[in-house]
Amino acid sequence: KDEEPGGVDLRNPPKGPIVLGFSQVGAEGGWRRANTASIRKAAVRNRIDLNFKDAGGDPKKQIADVHSFIDARVSVIAFAPVVETGWGEVLRRARDARIPVVLTDRLIDETDTSLWASSIGAEFASEGNLAAIYLENDYAGTTGTVNVVEILGANGATPTKLRAEGFAATAAKTGRLNIVDQATGDWTKDGGKAAMRELLERNKRIDAVFAQNDDMGLGAVIALEAAGKKPGSAPKIVTVDGTKAALQGLADGKLTYVIECSPEIGEPLMSVVVDLFHGGRVPKRIPSEKAVFDAETAAEALLDRTY
Ligand code: AHR
Repeated sequence: KDEEPGGVDLRNPPKGPIVLGFSQVGAEGGWRRANTASIRKAAVRNRIDLNFKDAGGDPKKQIADVHSFIDARVSVIAFAPVVETGWGEVLRRARDARIPVVLTDRLIDETDTSLWASSIGAEFASEGNLAAIYLENDYAGTTGTVNVVEILGANGATPTKLRAEGFAATAAKTGRLNIVDQATGDWTKDGGKAAMRELLERNKRIDAVFAQNDDMGLGAVIALEAAGKKPGSAPKIVTVDGTKAALQGLADGKLTYVIECSPEIGEPLMSVVVDLFHGGRVPKRIPSEKAVFDAETAAEALLDRTY
């Protein structure tokens, strides 16, 4: 009777240190670096031994890294999946070894939800919805369709899929935003620049750009300026993340809106890790913070934005 749901005997609690095996997507841009910094800082603050591995954007390496956490018998495993697929076998192995798993930032494509204890991150579809709502609102009182091009993140990742779905669903409601083309920018500034160049070559009239993250949007700004355009107004650009560089871009009038997706999930992650270590119950889903910035609110947020 003196047992918590996780099967821990409260008269004989587990002894530390708590070891967290964490596998990160990579270091593809400003958001990801801020996410890693938040996790490292929170681990130190909570006295958790962090075994950190960087997948370098490689799904196979990431799965091998998670296997290595099981071999090392860490207390808890957490990871931000590079892609959604391929997780069944390694997570069943973690479950058999009684090592709890937490998904951070992104999700996985597995129907057996008992494979993970909790997930912490943003509601990506609603970020896409918000991007379309704000953009569409700017055209209130005007007529005609608005030609939008989309710069997508890497293939197979949850935010790529869900941000596109959220944006398309809102656009389809009124038919005002016409998504005329898409190109992949792989989450990076260079990728966004190359994608924008491609989109400019293929499309005569582009009224707005939805870049699925800040880095790609800032890359698109470079390509648009080189083509003699005025990014921020013609075309308008909406991005997702809320990094300092993008907020500065907004304040300078080079971006139109930024939808925030907070990378600062280190503290909620460590709190879940501590609870799982002690056999406690944890929420299955913990959403991260979001907001929408325009030029005015970006200037305010810049005063204390650290990433
Ligand atoms: O999964 C979150 C996304 O991944 C961020 O929007 C992007 O910047 C990062 O690479």
